[in-house]
Formats: sequence, C-alpha cells, structure tokens
Amino acid sequence: MGKKVLVIGAGGREHALIWKLSQSPLIEKIYAAPGNPGIGNLAALVDVEADDVEKLLIFAKKELIDLTVVGPEIPLLAGVVDSFEKAGLNIFGATAAAAQIEASKAFAKNLMRQYDIPTAEFRVFDQMEPALEYARTFTEKGRPVVIKADGLAAGKGVVIAADTKEAEAVLENMLLRDVFGDAGRTVVVEECLQGEEVSFFVICNGSDYLPVMSAQDHKRAFDGDQGPNTGGMGAYVNPPVFTDELQKKVEKEIVAPVIKAMNQEGKPFRGVLYAGLMITDTGPKVLEFNARFGDPETQVLMPMLASDLFPVLETAAKGESFTDVKMEINKGACLGVVLASGGYPGTFAKGMVISGLESLDQDALVFHAGTKISKGDLVTNGGRVLTVVCRGADLKAAALRAYQQIKHINFEHMYYRKDVGERVWKKVRGG
Ligand code: AMP
Ligand code: GLY
Repeated sequence: MGKKVLVIGAGGREHALIWKLSQSPLIEKIYAAPGNPGIGNLAALVDVEADDVEKLLIFAKKELIDLTVVGPEIPLLAGVVDSFEKAGLNIFGATAAAAQIEASKAFAKNLMRQYDIPTAEFRVFDQMEPALEYARTFTEKGRPVVIKADGLAAGKGVVIAADTKEAEAVLENMLLRDVFGDAGRTVVVEECLQGEEVSFFVICNGSDYLPVMSAQDHKRAFDGDQGPNTGGMGAYVNPPVFTDELQKKVEKEIVAPVIKAMNQEGKPFRGVLYAGLMITDTGPKVLEFNARFGDPETQVLMPMLASDLFPVLETAAKGESFTDVKMEINKGACLGVVLASGGYPGTFAKGMVISGLESLDQDALVFHAGTKISKGDLVTNGGRVLTVVCRGADLKAAALRAYQQIKHINFEHMYYRKDVGERVWKKVRGG
C-alpha cells in the first residue's frame, strides 16, 4: 500500500511541495488543508484551516495519514507538530519550541551569540532610553541601524533607520506606542550589514541535516528593487555569489553549529531550516532563521529536485539518519515570477477572472497562491495570485521562457516584476 500524505497550507509553496510529492511512486494519496484550486488538481482538498490544530489532528487520525508536511510557520507555532507527535503521528516540521528560532528574533540572536555563529552585532531591549542610546552608537558615526520587533510582524517588523531621528521614531512605535502589539515589546537593535542576500535551505532530523539549495528572492514590489517590501515577487535558485566553497563555509560555521546548539538547548530542530544570509566582505552572516520553506523560493527549488522528496521528509520527521536517502539536484537553473494583484502589498481588489492558463507550454509550471473558483471561473483571491516557473540551461534562458509564458496570462490589475533574475546576469556580464 502506498503512503497517505497531508500537506498543511494554501499557498504557492504548498502547491510546489505537492507538485513534487505527487511524482513520488511511494505515495498513494495526497490531501491538502485547506489547499487552493491549483492544488486541487493534484490533491484532495480538506476544508480545515492551516492553524486549526485540533481538526487537523482529527483528520489525520481518521484517514490514517502516514506523513503530514507543514508549510507555513503559524501552525508550527500553534503546536501542530507537538500535538501530532504526542498522538504518535509522523509530521515534518519544527516543534513550537524549535520554531522560536523564527518567531523570536531575540531568542535567535542570543543563541547565535552564545554559540559563536556569525551575525550582525546587536543588543536586545525593552526600554526606550537604552535602546536609543545603543542605536546612536551607529547613527552618530553616520551609519544606519537596524531595528527589529522581536516577534512575528508579517514582514513589517524590520526597519533600517538611516539616522538617529528615524531610529527614535521606530523605537517609539515599537516600545511606547505598541504599533506592533506584543511582537514589538522587545526589540533587537543591530548593526546594518552590507552585501548580497542569499537564502540557504537545509532539511534537519534533529541532529543532522541534508543541504537542499540556495535561492534569492525579490522582496520589493517594483522593478529595480523599488517600492514597498512584499512576501516576495520572484525567485531563482543557485545565485552565482553562493559558490560551493561558500556553501561549505556556511554549513561549517552556521548550519552545523546551530543544529547542535538547538539540540543542546533541548529544542532539537526537525524540519526545514531556512538561513537568511548576508554575504559580507568578512564572510557570510545570519540575518535571520526561519523554521519553514521560503515562499516563493520553494516554488523554484522543487522543480530542481531530481530525486524523490518523500523519503527525505519522512526520514527527517522520524528523526532517522539521512545515510540511506539522497537529494539529487537537476542541472541548469530555475526561475519564478509572481503575478500579483494591483495594489499589493497594500489594499487590492479580489475576484478578477484569470485567463490564459490553458495556453502555456506543457513544461511551464504555474503555482497558485491567491486563487479560488467562483461561479465556475478561476478568480483572484489574494495579493500574490500565481507564480510562473520555468527551468532553463541558465538563469537567463529560464527568465526568457517565464516571461514568454506570462504573456498568455491575464487578469484585471495584474502586475509583476519585469526584472526577476536580471541582477545576476547583469553582474555576470559586467564581470
Ligand atoms: P529579517 O526578517 O531579519 O530577515 O529582515 C528582513 C530583511 O531586512 C532582510 O531580508 C534584509 O533585507 C534586511 N535586514 C535584516 N537585518 C539586517 C541587517 N542586520 N543588515 C542589513 N539588512 C538587514
Ligand atoms: N520569501 C521570504 C520568506 O518566505 O520568508
């Protein structure tokens, strides 16, 4: 009998994971809670929200699910992994305690300090005066300073303040005016790092890891890295800056030590460890850790995996050794462009009819994020609506293909970045 898998989540990341898992000969049936219309073509949709731990557990027990895979961070923090494990069920993801590495920046920074893991110089505060005094040690030298709300703040909790005045305003908002609620009652004030950002993903079993790949995303809404920050407007794998040598250094100085540290702290890390890195002149440094796959990054990672993903996730979930599983990666490049609703990341309209998906080339991938079916039509239902993902011999070839495919797709007020990946080949060409 094949395995039954439940994937928790409803975005492009979960669509990509399910697309990959659906190719596994070991799997008989995939369920998604709650999923989306794109996922519905590959999996049975379950009408349970991603953070409803109790109902998820009831479903998994009833259907005798062999492995549950958690996409987003919210169910992790809600303790879905703890509840499933307590009930004796296999689940791939971090426990609520281990997910603190993402949910509390103060926890992550103190861990890095204690275990000598390279990161920006910092201090943690819950009082205005000392926080501002420390911020001034940077701004008075004419340097910017980074101020971070400790908790999850939907990507809005990090501000790079250019001068003392701005730093004061940000600290006031977080510490005195409670603009970020509980998330901002503690802040991390830190050195602003310069360099190129790379995300590196590894899969952990509690004591060891298997490297997956690196990726870069485009956080700003508009071309040329202009406009507000978003969840990510496009991504590609294996940026040239992340050489094999650099990866080895990151594994040795960052990944292995943090897994060991989490173990020693009694919070063994199982699941995906996502290291957000800044490649500085003095080496790679950690900007943040996440306890889950990135989105949209996962949408470009999955098409690059040549080997079966299921055995890797199952091994990690069970805390078993990786010796008998492998992670083979395809040659070439993969790139994805997010199609968003006009107005995102601010306010935007929903319910626009999406057309043209049937005209795409067979091997072009479209992952759904904010879509739904309304009166028989596929319509927009979120800020990030779809991602068009293509592979190619190199990044530029992949980008050309993706942009050609996008020409077929339309919905009212659709917008997307026209320059995904461009910074790579511009740099490569310029030497
Ligand atoms: P985080 O959620 O901590 O990754 O921060 C979000 C974004 O803020 C990162 O992706 C970086 O672009 C930026 N950032 C965070 N910390 C720093 C830092 N110390 N120096 C420069 N940029 C930073
Ligand atoms: N793309 C950034 C993230 O998943 O956090």
